[in-house]
Amino acid sequence: MTGKEAKVWTAILSSSVAVLVLSTSYRFVNVILTEEASELSGYDPCCDYPCQNLGVCVSDKFSDYTCDCVGTGYYGSRCTIPEVGTLFSNLIPDATSAYGLLTSHDWLWNLINGNNDLRDQFSAQLYLSLSDFTDSPPAFESEHTFITGNVFYNKSLFTRSLPPVPSRCPTPMGTKGPKEYPDIDVLMNKLFARKEFIPDPQNSNLLFQYYALHFGRQFVQGPGTGPQLFRGTGEMDASHIYGTEEKDRQALRSGISGKLRSQILNGEEFPAILSDEPDTSTSQQVKNQTFALADPMFSSSPGLFVFATIWLREHNRVCDELLKVHSDWDDQRLYETARMIVSGEVVKITLVDFVQHLSQYKLDLSFNPELLHGTRFQFHNRIHAEFNHLFDWHPFVADYLLINEANYSVKEYSSSLDPLFNEGMDKFIEALLKTRAGEISARNHGESMYPFLKEALKASRDMRFQGINAYRRKFGLRPFSTFEDLTGEKETAAVLEEMYGDVDAVEYYVGLLMESSDSSISGLTMMNMALAWTVKSIFSNPVCSHLYWKPSTFGGKVGWDIIQNASLQKLFCQNMRTHCRDLAFTVLP
Ligand SMILES: *[C@@H]1O[C@H](CO)[C@@H](O)[C@H](O)[C@H]1NC(C)=O
Ligand SMILES: *[C@@H]1O[C@H](CO)[C@@H](O)[C@H](O)[C@H]1NC(C)=O
Ligand SMILES: *[C@@H]1O[C@H](CO)[C@@H](O)[C@H](O)[C@H]1NC(C)=O
Ligand SMILES: *[C@@H]1O[C@H](CO)[C@@H](O)[C@H](O)[C@H]1NC(C)=O
Repeated sequence: MTGKEAKVWTAILSSSVAVLVLSTSYRFVNVILTEEASELSGYDPCCDYPCQNLGVCVSDKFSDYTCDCVGTGYYGSRCTIPEVGTLFSNLIPDATSAYGLLTSHDWLWNLINGNNDLRDQFSAQLYLSLSDFTDSPPAFESEHTFITGNVFYNKSLFTRSLPPVPSRCPTPMGTKGPKEYPDIDVLMNKLFARKEFIPDPQNSNLLFQYYALHFGRQFVQGPGTGPQLFRGTGEMDASHIYGTEEKDRQALRSGISGKLRSQILNGEEFPAILSDEPDTSTSQQVKNQTFALADPMFSSSPGLFVFATIWLREHNRVCDELLKVHSDWDDQRLYETARMIVSGEVVKITLVDFVQHLSQYKLDLSFNPELLHGTRFQFHNRIHAEFNHLFDWHPFVADYLLINEANYSVKEYSSSLDPLFNEGMDKFIEALLKTRAGEISARNHGESMYPFLKEALKASRDMRFQGINAYRRKFGLRPFSTFEDLTGEKETAAVLEEMYGDVDAVEYYVGLLMESSDSSISGLTMMNMALAWTVKSIFSNPVCSHLYWKPSTFGGKVGWDIIQNASLQKLFCQNMRTHCRDLAFTVLP
């Protein structure tokens, strides 16, 4: 197909998509014209959240407030009257209908996937519209309800998508809901505790769970000194492979041919043992573990250790490939170039395997960073506290793992490397592939996850997260009108109503998990937020920006091809002893 024909096709298809969307989901503009005066006394008037459409509330002499509507597309004392342009943009499908469209209509997507230009155009529009929901630069952190310079300049602070609820309010959520948060133990028993394992409807396996966990560690390594602080750069910087600090990166290097330190056990390559090295420059963080790994957590959990080992082997394999073409390069150049290539692979695999599976999009996502060059996309990312909480995918965790014929309980398979070394790495990987993850839903937290759930809920309360509906508004979703609207059923809705009284008072993480998920991997609120932040962090990696994204950055054609061809399947198959087949994020028959 010529470029001109492709353009015509794009036009025809985008208009037919528009018609489809409009016919299924014409969104009426909701204009609130009556502005009743609220009785204000004794508390911050902004506790009422009087400003609509993401307008900013500023309290004024204790009892009055003003709404700053600049940039919202609305005006009026409470930002409720739409500007002319807003009336038109409200005709664009909302996030729910867009998601519905992207996960159905197989015939349409088959057509689009069959044409590279079309696939690129749709992918680029999708990446741009998802990243529009992430703020660059970020505006809030957990210590202030208003914009400060801290949020931008203090890189140890988790940023926030929405500011904390003001502290001088009648209830934890402002003015809605109970005077005190519901008791965490009661919430756990009634809403979170797993009675019977509920499997993920999309057939995700434990390899998917551990990919998410392992990859999440690069944003946030180790706890900071409070829930609002973290260690790391908050970027998708491959620090889960190389380390966060320069002294750790040095300690993990062999100093020969750009490679990372490793050892051979039973004929297979594994991370080196640390105690070998009387190295005094290493940080305590790295020194405290048996294996030389970027993150101490990876040496206690075999699922994480698998990924750490596979990436180590991949880095060393890439060095060998580079050496074939650049035999004159020194250790430093080989190491740094291999690190760029591996970063490119992390980015690509996270998009075409991880995001593709998570989203269940029928569109085959294209990885062409140049599609975003010269667009409104900001090549910058910070990690939000809400993203960190959203990634608490505890219900994925299965109750036991069968490896060969041995039955390992969750405690055994997630706290010691014995199952991996007893059964063999390839057998362990096979078990991860064959074991189904749990559904991210109500009543699916295994007992071993209670302490983590408790900690997450406590931290979100300390940081005064706003409720689930506030986040839905922020991410372009219609707020839930009733508890049943949230859960899609009656039983959980009744419990929530008893605990929270008002649907606007339902806590963020509680709402994310209690939302009905139909057949997607999570409820749509979680899905939209996870996709927006993940896609943003993928493309804001420097390797995707215009000065980096060219073969010379990656040692020429050799590295460029490795990135172009990278996939989950290749990553594992090139680095396992037994040659694997059909490796995926789902349990295959
Ligand atoms: C960042 O914020 C934290 C918490 O307020 C503070 O302890 C730390 O000193 C700040 N760091 C910098 C570099 O300002
Ligand atoms: C390392 O181990 C020591 C002693 O076991 C402990 O006191 C210290 O907190 C640990 N440090 C880190 C960063 O884990
Ligand atoms: C594995 O052990 C658990 C108990 O720890 C048990 O519930 C489960 O049925 C066992 N699975 C198999 C296949 O033996
Ligand atoms: C890798 O991609 C290049 C094109 O970028 C292709 O020519 C080559 O055959 C691929 N190699 C493998 C091993 O798939």
